[in-house]
This record gives sequence, structure tokens and C-alpha cells, in this order.
Amino acid sequence: MISTAMAEKISNQINREFYSAYLYLALSTEADNANLRGAAEWFMAKYHEESAHGLKMVRYLLDQGAEVTHGAITAPPSQTGSLLAMFERTLEHEQQVTAAIHDIVDQALSEKDHATNIFMHWFVTEQIEEEATVSDILGRLRLFGDRSEGLLMIDNELAAAAKSMGQGESVA
Ligand SMILES: [Fe+2]
Ligand SMILES: [Fe+2]
Repeated sequence: MISTAMAEKISNQINREFYSAYLYLALSTEADNANLRGAAEWFMAKYHEESAHGLKMVRYLLDQGAEVTHGAITAPPSQTGSLLAMFERTLEHEQQVTAAIHDIVDQALSEKDHATNIFMHWFVTEQIEEEATVSDILGRLRLFGDRSEGLLMIDNELAAAAKSMGQGESVA
């Protein structure tokens, strides 16, 4: 059993994970409309990943016999602009998510809630990987993204990366 405060914190994080999914869905549709097919697939794969993160936390609360609170999910921004701006927004967002996840771990440590602490470790590691991946893409966009050949190359790389995430699919 976990504390009510902890269950609330995790419910808020579930909301954040589904907001992440929604944000990436919006970026996927925007990229698709701009004919950036690889980016559209990459953001769609992220949509699936973030939904899976939310569901993982829902399962944890259920397994702990805790209440899951379903808050409203904020609408994502309608237009972000260039592919560079999309990935800048992605990195900024993931950094905020990392801070929120660390905050849950802080709470788990202060409550001596070992179960939540261990459960959250997977997310701490996942955030390191996500930030590193997005930083790498951003670096390549800054180097090559202002030339059309460079943009095409990065878009193709994103398509390949989306396939390796296993869930890549374009918006029909
Ligand atoms: Fe996530
Ligand atoms: Fe994420």
C-alpha cells in the first residue's frame, strides 16, 4: 500500500505521460502535413511509448490497491514550426518530465516508500535515454538541418529510428 499523497503524485504523472503522448501526436500530425514522413513516424512512435509509460503507472497504482485519478489532459500547441523547433520543444518537455519524475523519487525517499522508489528507477533511466536521443537529433539538426539535403537525411534517419522503436506508423 502506498500513501494517498504518493498515489496523487503518480496520478499527476500519469496525466503528464498522456499529455506527452498527446503532444507527440500533435507533432506527428504537424510533421506529416509538412511531408516530413520520417519525423511523423518518429513522433507517432513516441506517442505509443508515452501511452505505454502512462499505462505502466496505472498498472502500478492498481497493483498497489491505490486510487487512480483521471485529470483533464491539456491540449498541445497547434503549431510548432520547423523540425528544429519541434525537437527543441521535445527536449524542453522531456526535461520537465525528468524533473517531475525526480520529484516523485524524492517523495518516495522521504516517505521511505521502497516500492515506489524501485518502480520509479525504470523511469529515471528512461529519461536519461530519451534526453540523450533528443539531444543527439537536435545536434544533427543544428549542423545539417538548414540545408534541404540535410533535412532529408535526418528525416530518413528518423524513419529508421521509428521502426527500431517498433511502433512506427504514419498518420493515415
Ligand atoms: Fe514518458
Ligand atoms: Fe518521454
